Amino acid sequence: VVLVVDFGAQYAQLIARRVREARVYSEIVPSTMPVAEMLARKPAAIILSGGPSSVYEEGAPRLDRAIFEAGVPVFGMCYGFQLMAQTLGGTVDNSGAREYGRTDLHVSKTGSTLFEGTPAEQAVWMSHGDACSAAPEGFTVTASTDVVPVAAFENDEKKLYGVQHHPEVMHSTYGQQVLEHFLYRGAGIEPTWTTGNVIEEQVAAIREQVGDKRAICGLSGGVDSAVAAALVQKAIGSQLTCVYVDHGLMRKGETEQVEKDFVAATGVSLKVVDAQERFLAALAGVSDPEEKRKIIGREFIRVFEQAEAEIIAEAGAHGDQPVKFLVQGTLYPDVVESGGGSGTANIKSHHNVGGLPEDLEFELIEPLRKLFKDEVRMVGQELGLPAEIVHRQPFPGPGLGIRIVGEVTRERLDLLREADAIAREELTAAGLDREIWQCPVVLLADVRSVGVQGDGRTYGHPIVLRPVSSEDAMTADWTRMPYDVLAKISTRITNEVADVNRVVLDVTSKPPGTIEWE
Ligand code: XMP
Repeated sequence: VVLVVDFGAQYAQLIARRVREARVYSEIVPSTMPVAEMLARKPAAIILSGGPSSVYEEGAPRLDRAIFEAGVPVFGMCYGFQLMAQTLGGTVDNSGAREYGRTDLHVSKTGSTLFEGTPAEQAVWMSHGDACSAAPEGFTVTASTDVVPVAAFENDEKKLYGVQHHPEVMHSTYGQQVLEHFLYRGAGIEPTWTTGNVIEEQVAAIREQVGDKRAICGLSGGVDSAVAAALVQKAIGSQLTCVYVDHGLMRKGETEQVEKDFVAATGVSLKVVDAQERFLAALAGVSDPEEKRKIIGREFIRVFEQAEAEIIAEAGAHGDQPVKFLVQGTLYPDVVESGGGSGTANIKSHHNVGGLPEDLEFELIEPLRKLFKDEVRMVGQELGLPAEIVHRQPFPGPGLGIRIVGEVTRERLDLLREADAIAREELTAAGLDREIWQCPVVLLADVRSVGVQGDGRTYGHPIVLRPVSSEDAMTADWTRMPYDVLAKISTRITNEVADVNRVVLDVTSKPPGTIEWE
C-alpha cells in the first residue's frame, strides 16, 4: 500500500485516486496518525499531500522526522514538500514569493528521477504562500520557477522527493507522469493493482464474514447499490435477497432495468415492492420541497422495513439461517470524510412497523468502502452489469418528486418522464454523457405560458434543462452544450410531450444555484 498523508483541503483524495490510476493501491491516513503507526502498515511508499496551513503557523501539522529515516520512499507535494524541506534542515520562508494557479516550471536537471522524459519547460498548478529557498543537505534541486528558486528537489540515495506544485491536478500537464516516476522509478513499485483483484478479495472477505447466514440489500437503481449487491451476490448467491421499492418516481425505463436487466445479469433474488399508490397518496396536495423530501424519505423507510420484516419472517418459516447482514454501497470518499471508521460498526434499524424485535441489529457489509466512484464503475463492468446501470449519472433519492416544482401527480410524473427520456436520448446520441455530470429535467408545474402550435393557441408548461459540469457535485457550472443539441431536444419535447410548449435552459452555476431545483 502507498499511504497518502492528509494535510487537509481535499488534495489527499485526488492524490489517492491518481495513485490508483497508476495501478498502485493507495489509502489516505490523517496527518495526526503517529509515524510509528504509519510505518507499522509497511507502506511501499508515502506521499505527503498539500494543505491549507503554513509551516510557520503555530499548531501547523508536523511530522516526526522518523518518517524520512525509515528507508521508505517519500514524496512531498506543496505543504508536504515544505514540511520535508523544513524538517530536514532546508530553508522555507514567507518571503512573499506566492504563486497561485498556472505557473511555468523550469526543470533544471535532466535525468532527474521525477522529471525524466518531460520537457524542460512545463505548466504546473501552484497554490502556496511560503517558498523553499534552500534544499536540505544531500538534496539536488531539480526545478525552479520565476519566483521560487527551489520548486522541486530529490535525494535519490535516500529515496526522498518533493515538488512545490500539485502534480495531482489536471492543470499540471505532466503531473501524472511525475507521480508515476516516483512510484515506479523512485519507489520501485510494480503497477499491478486492478479492480479485478478487488472482486476476488471482496468475494473471499464477504464469504468469511457472512458464513451461512443471510443478507439483505436495498437497490435504489443507482450504481453503488447495484455494484455492492452484485458483489455480494457473487460471494454468497442465494443467501442474499435484494429489495427494490418502486415509488413511482423513477425515470423512464429505470425500474425495468433493475427488475429485468439487473436480475438477468446477476441472478439475484429480488423482492419488488410496488408502492406507487402509497407514495402518490402521501404526496397529494404537497408542494413544499422540504416537505416532499421528508414524506418520500419517511415512506421509503417504512416500505423498506416492511419488506425486511417479510423476508426475515419468510426465512424463519422456511427454517433458513437468520438474516444478519445489511449490504450498503458506502464509498471511500464517505469513509474518509466521516473520519475513516474501522468498518466494524453495527447499525440499528429503527422499526416503525410491527413484526420485528425492537433491537434487531444488522451487521453491515460494505464491499465498496475502499473504492472511488470510477473504480466502482469498473468493478460493475467486470461483474457484467448493464451499461445503463454502470454509467448512470447521479440521480437523487427522492427522484422525480423533487423535479416537479409544484404538487406531484401521476399525470405530471408521466409528462416529466417523457421529457426527461427525450433529453437523455439526445444527450447520449450527441456523445455528451461523459462531459455532462448530470442533466436534471424539471417541470414547472405551477407555471403556464402562452404558445402557438399548429393553428391554435396553447397554454402549457415550461420544461427546464439543467445540464451541469462538475467533479464532485459540491460546485458545478452550467455546461456550454452545442446549440444544435439544445435545439433538437427543445423541438422534440415541445412536439412530443403534450402540455409542454416551452423549453428553457438553466444558466446558473453552483453556487449560487443548487443542481436540483428543490
Ligand atoms: P444539489 O441540488 O444539492 O445536488 O446541488 C447535489 C447532488 O446531490 C444529488 N441530490 C441527491 N442525492 N438524495 C440523493 O441521493 C437526495 O435527496 C439528493 N438531493 C440532491 C443531486 O442530484 C446532485 O447530484
